[in-house]
Amino acid sequence: MPTDADARHVLRNNDLGGYTVPTHGLYPYQWNWDSALVAKGWATFDPPRAWQEVESLLAAQWPNGMVPHIVFRQPDPSYFPGPEVWRAGQGALPTSGISQPPVLASAVRRLVEADPARDLRRLETVYRQLDAWHRWWHDVRDPQNAGLITITHPWESGRDNLPDWDAPLAAVDTSGVGSYQRRDTSHVAAAMRPTQADYDRYIALVQFGRERGWDAKRIVVDSPFLVVDPGVLAILIRAERDLLTIASLVGGDCAAINRRIERLIGGFERLWNPEAKGFCSLDLRTGEHCATANAASFLAAYAGVTAHHRTVMAQFAEWAERVQFMLPSFDPRSPEFDPVRYWRGPVWAFFNYLVAIGLAEVGEREWAERLRADTKRLIGGSWFAEYYDPKSGIACGGQEFSWTAAIWLAWGLGEVADR
Ligand code: GLC
Repeated sequence: MPTDADARHVLRNNDLGGYTVPTHGLYPYQWNWDSALVAKGWATFDPPRAWQEVESLLAAQWPNGMVPHIVFRQPDPSYFPGPEVWRAGQGALPTSGISQPPVLASAVRRLVEADPARDLRRLETVYRQLDAWHRWWHDVRDPQNAGLITITHPWESGRDNLPDWDAPLAAVDTSGVGSYQRRDTSHVAAAMRPTQADYDRYIALVQFGRERGWDAKRIVVDSPFLVVDPGVLAILIRAERDLLTIASLVGGDCAAINRRIERLIGGFERLWNPEAKGFCSLDLRTGEHCATANAASFLAAYAGVTAHHRTVMAQFAEWAERVQFMLPSFDPRSPEFDPVRYWRGPVWAFFNYLVAIGLAEVGEREWAERLRADTKRLIGGSWFAEYYDPKSGIACGGQEFSWTAAIWLAWGLGEVADR
């Protein structure tokens, strides 16, 4: 069983000076939602370092408000596609050209609450940056102005190869992709990573954005991939609520945030798919819901959405009957479920943590406790892996992973005596 000291060691070892890489080799740069979650881990033993993580990520913000999904601080050939492929970065640093789930404001709220002697001027700057990023999602990524926030690349969901993306990706033309050398499969077994056909489509979408100079408004107009992800949407709703708390401390525009929250909840409710008994992805190009729910359906409570709660929890119980360890990333009853291939089945510790926060808040304490206990068993048996097989509990993907270690700390999974 790891100790808190082991978890702290993972973070320190992945600290490249003001930012934390997810793991060496496989992910050698700064990733957006990893940094936000990692800040929660740093906050348990080094609050100034947690703030640094937040501020270093925000330093890469684009003038239009977007906070990019990767910040390329120093060249590293162990990752593809690197800065020379993206040719993006409209802010101070080279970056990718898309964003990632906006969990940062929620992490910042936690830092603020743990810091009674907070520096309000510094917080105000962070607030303005977060507010600009949230407005970017609304202004650029809600083409119907209906709270249906879209993603234009599977990587933007942070759950790269969910079966949800298969149908929308089928419309992506890969004929001009050319040859390239993947790096991920030199670090991790190919069976645990996306297929080559998927990778070609990811690269085609990068080329598509690059050809449009990473002008997000143009990309939304004709991107072949334009999908509403319940994960991004739930996380944004929660982040807006947390931003509201921060706004009240620094004199921000609470009324505007409240209006945004209302619109987003309307959008989330439109993701309900009665046949799938869940909140499902919606392809805005075809108007079709994904036929099967993924794990983000269980983030409804985290977002504060109570509609269909009983039905959602009945599905949760059915999933739990099929696996040893909750929460698989995709429905374990589906033929597309794969317990080791990336986001098509495996369990992520941080995702369990987010779902459990919401379930505890709506009184589903036993299920929240089950998620915590399963996460502890997984990390206890297989250390700080990137993700885990929900049937066998074996470690998958990269090892010595920052956000897994951070969640161990933030969720207090270590024995009290270790701390
Ligand atoms: C993968 C994950 C993504 C994560 C990144 C770094 O691309 O799908 O969610 O941010 O790795 O850990």
